[in-house]
Amino acid sequence: MISFFTNTTSDRSVHIQSSRCSTKTIANFDAEHATTLEATHSVDPRTVIDLFTPAQGLTYLDSATYGLPPQPTLDALRGALDGWQGGTAHWIDDWDREAEVCRKLFAQLLHSRTDEVSLMPAVSVASAIVASAVPPGGEVLIPEGDFTSIIYPFLVAEKRGELTVREAPLEILAEAVTPATSLVATSLVQSADGRVVDLEALHLATRQVDARLYLDVSQALGVMPLNVEAAGVDYLACGAYKWLCCPRGVAFLYVREALWQTPSPVAASWRAGDSPYGRFYGMPLALASTAARFDVSLAWHAWVGARPSLETLCALDDDLRFRLACTPVRHLAERLELPPPDSSILSVPVVDDQRAAETLRAASIKASVRASQIRVSSHFYNSIADVEHAAEVLAPLVDRRPADRT
Ligand SMILES: Cc1ncc(COP(=O)(O)O)c(C=O)c1O
Repeated sequence: MISFFTNTTSDRSVHIQSSRCSTKTIANFDAEHATTLEATHSVDPRTVIDLFTPAQGLTYLDSATYGLPPQPTLDALRGALDGWQGGTAHWIDDWDREAEVCRKLFAQLLHSRTDEVSLMPAVSVASAIVASAVPPGGEVLIPEGDFTSIIYPFLVAEKRGELTVREAPLEILAEAVTPATSLVATSLVQSADGRVVDLEALHLATRQVDARLYLDVSQALGVMPLNVEAAGVDYLACGAYKWLCCPRGVAFLYVREALWQTPSPVAASWRAGDSPYGRFYGMPLALASTAARFDVSLAWHAWVGARPSLETLCALDDDLRFRLACTPVRHLAERLELPPPDSSILSVPVVDDQRAAETLRAASIKASVRASQIRVSSHFYNSIADVEHAAEVLAPLVDRRPADRT
């Protein structure tokens, strides 16, 4: 047994077994992948990859829908359920406080300070909090077709007459920023097809007109390296059940320190108080002085599971996670003669999505079927063998007609 995690606050650190047998086909990684795996790192990536066990015979290429949990996450969840069943668990020490470790680990992934991170149940809640920060009548700029949890809270606020929302194509989002723009709200990686926004251009454009930047990294963090401060991000949301391999119900909101007093803590509860375990009743309103003032009461067991998931992610450095996760989809793109994706999501155009869905099912490949495209997403636990299988199955289905067909 080796322990990778020395930076956590509890003595119940997760240990990763280096000796566990895996059914994964690590030996089949191609040369590039093998080089990545053999590179000198403080941790052997195989010991981390071996913690993930997709069902035998299944090729799981759908982490953009939900990420798979590592074994320590399942062990922690089972332990939490046992403690609940028997009534032996202490709700603060065994469940609630685990989220404080998660806050710290998430900050580590984001390269932010821990006190700039708040604990959320879902991205939509984070977006509603950010929407409250837009000045009256301010303009919110969004890319066309972004995920609804990012944009609906702004559309609801628009309906209430509080702000206006304007759309622009993702490719020219930065150019669409004007002096009337108060906030740009966008995903870093588009959920539908894996396109990546030009973050540098957005940073420059928003700073030029003193607009704020709200970034959703649900389809990015864990794979795409990001230094939130250097990127000029003001607000950031992340659902952790995809690339961070956490249970559903775990999400985060980052708020830059200078803005802690700007959004309204619209869902304030005892958890957002200045003394979360010491004050449960009555007036006055006494919120935390940090981004914890936006915390929302926690779905306990999900957060117990989140901690070992985040610890597992933190065991691999940013660069290694990026290369391990993106190499399989890039390999698939090459095999299908498609442009290489900039993220770990590849959108494969197909002529007949119904037929594609049936063919994938018959081949035991899990990917997402959207209108006229298959969304294939690979994480660091995927191998080249996984995408070789997908390439054989998908090749006859690819739509080779010119992109500007009507
Ligand atoms: C970019 C993005 N943000 C957020 C979410 C999830 O949002 P919520 O946590 O509000 O369900 C998804 C889910 O697919 C997503 O792709």
